[in-house]
Amino acid sequence: MIVAVPKETKEKERRVSLSPDVAGSLVKQGFEVIMEKDAGILSYFENEKYQNTGVKIVEDKSSLYSTADVILKVNAPTPEEIAGMKKGAILISLMYAATNPAMVEACERAGISAFSMDAIPRISRAQKMDVLSSQANLAGYKAVILGAAALGKIFPLLMTAAGTIKPSRVVIMGAGVAGLQAIATAKRLGAIVEVSDIRPETKEQVESLGGKFIELKGDDSVKLEGGYVKNVSDEFLKKQQALIAKHIAEADLVVTTALIPGKKAPVLITDEMVKSMKMGSVIVDMAVEQGGNCTQSELNKTVVKNGVTIIGESNLPSLLPLNASELYAKNISSFLLHLADKDKFRWEMEEEITAGSLMVHEGKSVHPSLKKQA
Ligand code: NAI
Repeated sequence: MIVAVPKETKEKERRVSLSPDVAGSLVKQGFEVIMEKDAGILSYFENEKYQNTGVKIVEDKSSLYSTADVILKVNAPTPEEIAGMKKGAILISLMYAATNPAMVEACERAGISAFSMDAIPRISRAQKMDVLSSQANLAGYKAVILGAAALGKIFPLLMTAAGTIKPSRVVIMGAGVAGLQAIATAKRLGAIVEVSDIRPETKEQVESLGGKFIELKGDDSVKLEGGYVKNVSDEFLKKQQALIAKHIAEADLVVTTALIPGKKAPVLITDEMVKSMKMGSVIVDMAVEQGGNCTQSELNKTVVKNGVTIIGESNLPSLLPLNASELYAKNISSFLLHLADKDKFRWEMEEEITAGSLMVHEGKSVHPSLKKQA
């Protein structure tokens, strides 16, 4: 089976789907791995590192797409790239397929099968394939580092002959995978960390990392399901905004990570709240791609509003390409080995991980999230 790794083409993307080590381990297991020249270079993996593990470097991207049995990517390929795949081939990448109908149609037209990494069920046995966690973990770290770098002050308490510096106050909104890593990072740097989430179980997790939990009572509109927030009402969000306003006004850095899968991100920081913040304080809005937790953040821009720096970087894992690619590679190769051996795919259509992640099978949309739209 020929497994191919194209160079990512999305703007500002530095990651690659296989690291040299992981590519080498697939070669050892009998896969033929080919890679577009320089696909790993922005993750600091040179072509020779891949070649040394038995990977063949290909210069011509269209021949890479047309000879591959399996394409492994970080981001979904463009419809044009998909059109260049051979009939019956298999694509594995992040897809967010329900919001990407042009990509799904391109897969149908090309007669290929497509598995979406972001749709792999978050069950224990799929943890090693969970890219949402591996990438969010790194993103949470980087959000705090970016915020700290943009602040005109340090995080820790410092007592010197010239005077005492008080520790910075960091507020983290949302204690999922990214938020928990953000708490740990800000604590390690010496800040006082306060955290808000509406899933009650997060209180204990926050406190075990040394964060102070901002207590928030849910109401009837708060729907939780399978570890996720499914819904909150605008009235609830207003109550939440009022409760956290004082914490935000006193914060030096606010990192927002709150998401509701499949919906626009909840607004947690309003224009008024930004106005109430101290001059020189910083917001990093990690939900910016889903509409933002802060009304003033702008996608892929850093803006200054009323003296507050608001960072709206959407692809934080790509700013740590070395680690992000290493972890992504482990996730995607574990997934490939779950689905296939060196000779063929198993196509266990009833199996939970396969059924949860298979979007298109031999040119037909099969995933329930896509059928609903039809
Ligand atoms: P996410 O990225 O969907 O959301 C981030 C956080 O925002 C969540 O903690 C959520 O509760 C919070 N949030 C939503 N609305 C909010 C609001 N109005 N105010 C404050 N916070 C708000 O979540 P993520 O990080 O993807 O993880 C979600 C769940 O998945 C967790 O229960 C986690 O334990 C679970 N999980 C399970 C795994 C497994 O078993 N393999 C692996 C990773 C995560």
